[in-house]
Amino acid sequence: MNQPTNEEMLGQFIPLHYHYDMLRDGYRMETFRLAIESMVTPGIQVVDLGGGTGVLSFFAAKQGANVTYVERNPQLVEVARKLFKLNGVEDRIQVVQADAKDFVPECPVELVTCEMLHVGLLREKQVEVIAAFKQNYLQKHNTKLPRFIPEASLLACQPVTQEYEFEGFLAPGPIFQRPANEHDETICLSEPVVYDTVWYDKQLPNRLGWEGTMTIEQDGSLNGIRFVTKNVLSFLLQEHRAIEWHNQFMVMPLDLPIPVKKGQQIRLAFNYQPGDELPVLDSSLQVELLADADSAQKQSTSAA
Ligand SMILES: C[S@@+](CC[C@H](N)C(=O)[O-])C[C@H]1O[C@@H](n2cnc3c(N)ncnc32)[C@H](O)[C@@H]1O
Repeated sequence: MNQPTNEEMLGQFIPLHYHYDMLRDGYRMETFRLAIESMVTPGIQVVDLGGGTGVLSFFAAKQGANVTYVERNPQLVEVARKLFKLNGVEDRIQVVQADAKDFVPECPVELVTCEMLHVGLLREKQVEVIAAFKQNYLQKHNTKLPRFIPEASLLACQPVTQEYEFEGFLAPGPIFQRPANEHDETICLSEPVVYDTVWYDKQLPNRLGWEGTMTIEQDGSLNGIRFVTKNVLSFLLQEHRAIEWHNQFMVMPLDLPIPVKKGQQIRLAFNYQPGDELPVLDSSLQVELLADADSAQKQSTSAA
């Protein structure tokens, strides 16, 4: 068997067994199904970029769409063809094996689905693929863009105290968590701050990141920054609500813990390119405790 290339290893190559795990993720499946059902009407044209096992194409085809499934990995293309037959939707889905960055549909389409989403929009190539798709599409069709699922991603971060000890073995490293606020091994030291919002139908960013201050809301040992990504799959304008899906949370450890107290301020800075590997974010992370207002005032009073 051919060895995966570097590019395949870098975020785009997902082994087949992991795709079956993604199908078992009920939260992911249900939110994507509902979002697709909310946007697809019979007869519309849909493109599914990075189709994988084909589940998103299937949801769209079930609603009566004519779907073009685009996937680069030939093993997945073969699996998807079989699954489309098994599920009786093969007549509604055209299968294309291609790099989604180069694919342009022959005719204008109403909807594009693309789930190459990783927390922080790191590793996977969502932004790169959609940016290339939009450019190629506008060049060929010179008409308005289709809608996208997801429509937007909101990226947030927050300082935490994180447990990095495993049965007595201390190993500070990136920790992935199910997307829920309560975790026994994590104490949130402040509310999350949104550092970027990416709208897929608007100009896409070349860099993501933040530089700013946060106020600590409880005493603790600041030893990690938690990254939270909420994807708005579909805005239901008439119902004044949205269908949302969170990626797994990720806690990035700090080199040295910083003891902090409620009311103190920290300065946090980081930046990376969408699709970058985790070490790029890690090496850009800077956290410092700012001199608190009280002690700064005491110092200036005693100097006077
Ligand atoms: C996270 S999986 C999602 C699969 C499927 N859409 C789903 O929701 O279950 C991302 C998929 O995108 C594919 N992919 C990544 N980069 C691609 C590219 N440049 N062109 C086509 N497919 C790509 C991967 O092979 C993988 O199957």
